[in-house]
Amino acid sequence: MKNFSLFKKSRSVVGLDIGSSAVKAVELKASGKGYRVAAYGTEPIPPDSIVDGAIIDGAAVAESIRRVFESKAFKTKEVAASLSGNAVIVKKISLPLMTATELEESIYWEAEQYIPFDIQDVNLDYQILDGGSSAPDSKGTMEVLLVAAKKEKIADYTGVITQAGRTPVVVDVDAFALQNAYELNYGLEPNTVIVLLNAGASAININIIANGQSVFTRDISLGGNAYTEAVQRELNLPFESAELLKKGAPVDGATFEDVLPVLRAMTENVLLEVQKTFDFFKATASTDQISRIMLSGGASRVEGFAETLQERFSTPVEMFDPFRKVTLDAKKFSADMRESIAPTAAVAVGLAVRRAGDRCFASTSLPSQGEIPDRTEGHRFLQPHPLCRRAGRRLVVLVAAAHLGRPRSADRRCRARENAAPEHHSTGRPVRSTPRAASAARHAHRRASQGADRPGASARSNQQSAA
Ligand SMILES: Nc1ncnc2c1ncn2[C@@H]1O[C@H](COP(=O)(O)OP(=O)(O)OP(=O)(O)O)[C@@H](O)[C@H]1O
Ligand SMILES: [Mg+2]
Repeated sequence: MKNFSLFKKSRSVVGLDIGSSAVKAVELKASGKGYRVAAYGTEPIPPDSIVDGAIIDGAAVAESIRRVFESKAFKTKEVAASLSGNAVIVKKISLPLMTATELEESIYWEAEQYIPFDIQDVNLDYQILDGGSSAPDSKGTMEVLLVAAKKEKIADYTGVITQAGRTPVVVDVDAFALQNAYELNYGLEPNTVIVLLNAGASAININIIANGQSVFTRDISLGGNAYTEAVQRELNLPFESAELLKKGAPVDGATFEDVLPVLRAMTENVLLEVQKTFDFFKATASTDQISRIMLSGGASRVEGFAETLQERFSTPVEMFDPFRKVTLDAKKFSADMRESIAPTAAVAVGLAVRRAGDRCFASTSLPSQGEIPDRTEGHRFLQPHPLCRRAGRRLVVLVAAAHLGRPRSADRRCRARENAAPEHHSTGRPVRSTPRAASAARHAHRRASQGADRPGASARSNQQSAA
């Protein structure tokens, strides 16, 4: 038989963070026990080309991506990108105990009630967070992180990448890419609650990690643009001038002192939303003690932001350094360059540790009646990448929220390979007819009708966006 590409050794990819203000690309190479940056590039995206995470001007976005790759330093065409915002749903759900195979077979029907979109319109993925057996108080349930992303949105993002002459092979979620970058650089600390806060131009991604697991994610629809627009309004300036002034450069007779009150007022708005997120987390988590807030994203550099955050929440605030353990060759990257790229590179670094083919296949569509559903393999992502294993670190390549449509024949090849595993065997019957799936569905419906699906019971994300 031919050597299908799906079965080839996993290949490294370029981490491509398509932000609304700029594209950031990182290619990593194995180096000793860790990684070094082989290539980095960034290109601005014209204002309003991406609005609220939706690509409005695909040609402009594709052109920015194309320009990033003009640098000969990038050696691979395959890229991992990510999504955020209201087209992505992240949810922790509780299910009756079942085997991994049973879960694979029933996840679509389980998911349906938790996803506010037509299930036909989303790609699904999941990861078993707690298989249930380890917890004495598990009450016969297991915890699963469910991720759904709108197909339309995935197609928009993969479309601009293809238009730019690159091959999209992984689509992840900003908040999880951030987490991968964090684990790569800081490792996992037991008994700590770390808040990753990535403040971009149009959104703030928050991922709260307790004992190494994501327990809460949220995207707030506020960011650097809101600061710039406030400066624009208050001082009656064009966007570009307000943008410069916000960063400290005097423009058009206005000084940085003039904008400080405007920045402070906007920081208060942002903190209100962050406060809501923390309150929500604290009301539902077993611990309310946040150990540290790690800041990334360009807007986290707004004058006074880090200090106010630290003061307000009485929690240590640190700048997230995505190159803490990833070597940046000083000959290629000066100290100044490092300083300027580090704040906005975290998501791209987290994406660059993904691998083409680190996943056998993707669930891409709802199975038609009577057909065995496409399998997902969320649990496989708990396997540390071999590089990290060597380094003694655990890297969770957490969840690819959505994957690219692969030919269904390829999916079947994968399924055939999986069925060869001794663990379980698919019956070939519609999943609803398996007793376990039916009981899972009943259980879930009961929970829903009892209101167990209130936000507090789960890690929710973008549907809670502020704006
Ligand atoms: N020194 C600075 N002070 C204030 N704001 C800054 C500074 N440097 C960058 N910014 C702001 O950071 C934002 C860009 O950050 P980033 O690259 O993380 O966003 P993005 O990924 O493009 O956006 P998003 O993820 O929200 O779509 C812009 O709003 C920019 O004005
Ligand atoms: Mg961003």
